[in-house]
Amino acid sequence: MRPHDIQVKIIACGICGSDMHCAKGDWGRAYTPLAVGHEIIGHVTHIGTEVDKSKFKIGDRVGIGPECECCGKCYRCKHELESNCVSQALTYAYVYPDGTKTQGGYADNIRVNDKFVFQIPDGLETIHAAPLLCGGITGLRPLLDYGVKKGTKVGVSGIGGIGHMTILFAKALGAEVTAISRGEKKREISKKLGADHYIAASDESQLKEGKDSLDLIVNTASSFSQTHLESVMPLLKPNGRMTFITAPELKEKVEITPFFFLFNNYSIGGSAAGSVKQIEYMLKLAAEKHIKPWVETIDISEKNVKEAWRRMEEGDVKFRFVLTGYDKYFGEKN
Ligand SMILES: NC(=O)c1ccc[n+]([C@@H]2O[C@H](COP(=O)([O-])OP(=O)(O)OC[C@H]3O[C@@H](n4cnc5c(N)ncnc54)[C@H](OP(=O)(O)O)[C@@H]3O)[C@@H](O)[C@H]2O)c1
Ligand SMILES: [Zn+2]
Ligand SMILES: [Zn+2]
Repeated sequence: MRPHDIQVKIIACGICGSDMHCAKGDWGRAYTPLAVGHEIIGHVTHIGTEVDKSKFKIGDRVGIGPECECCGKCYRCKHELESNCVSQALTYAYVYPDGTKTQGGYADNIRVNDKFVFQIPDGLETIHAAPLLCGGITGLRPLLDYGVKKGTKVGVSGIGGIGHMTILFAKALGAEVTAISRGEKKREISKKLGADHYIAASDESQLKEGKDSLDLIVNTASSFSQTHLESVMPLLKPNGRMTFITAPELKEKVEITPFFFLFNNYSIGGSAAGSVKQIEYMLKLAAEKHIKPWVETIDISEKNVKEAWRRMEEGDVKFRFVLTGYDKYFGEKN
């Protein structure tokens, strides 16, 4: 234990698309053995000597997302942009300068800096809170940074784990939401999620009809391989913005024709998770507005993780797997 560490006994962890990218080596080969998982919920079991005892006590139900440490000194850290700190430590697949390797939430316990441990409001069930710690904040941040409010016309492209939470948050902020998926398969379910409109990006006539209708598109697809920016972006009005949170294979490149952006006054950019303040705000908002990610729980085990990853790869989950049953697998006393 370092002075600012908190140790947490894990009870649940969402399965994020990033877990699969990392395990597959999409971002380069990580070390092994490696426990991925950064949508973690658990109970506090140990508290470091310098942790603020008025904020945390043994037994508290807390959450941990994809970031577990930042430098605290750089411009970004001082301006509530911790998730953009270049010296941040990631919850898994990160090696500290002294060689210490981080391990994520497909494990019995985790120990991280108290700055990145979040109290879970009573109104939020564990299985609904878990996916918010990464997927939820990653979808919400582009909406907050843009200033989405009542009437903003928001497109959400890629209706998977993060995409479905982005729809829920955009609706909670009062936006008019268009779900954009590669094909027709998710039309009905997008309506059930609350989307006001639906566009299948494979259908040119739907793209044409939706032209100049959106202020912001949040692209939550896991790859750009089947997303053609130049056909989807005209859904934006001039001065519109596309923010992608996609973290694809390192070899993927985005091709941009400058004149296309110039003539349309379009902006394009990326977004990484969210700040400490934004995460605290999100948890409060989710509890107050009863925002519940659609989850499928699955007991943690080698067999079940393999099966969940296989089904995720096939898009066969509505919409987030959450690993549970930690005591059954690891034993209650771990
Ligand atoms: N920026 C960040 O801080 C951050 C944080 C967490 C995760 N991520 C990244 O966000 C992405 C999405 O994560 P997720 O957990 O939501 O994954 P997911 O549940 O697998 O959903 C991804 C969605 O992308 C679309 N898709 C799948 N294959 C595609 C392809 N080849 N080309 C284009 N679209 C494709 C599908 O939507 P449709 O069927 O509707 O088209 C699918 O539902 C991943 O790349 C993940 O690593 C980023
Ligand atoms: Zn994630
Ligand atoms: Zn920093």
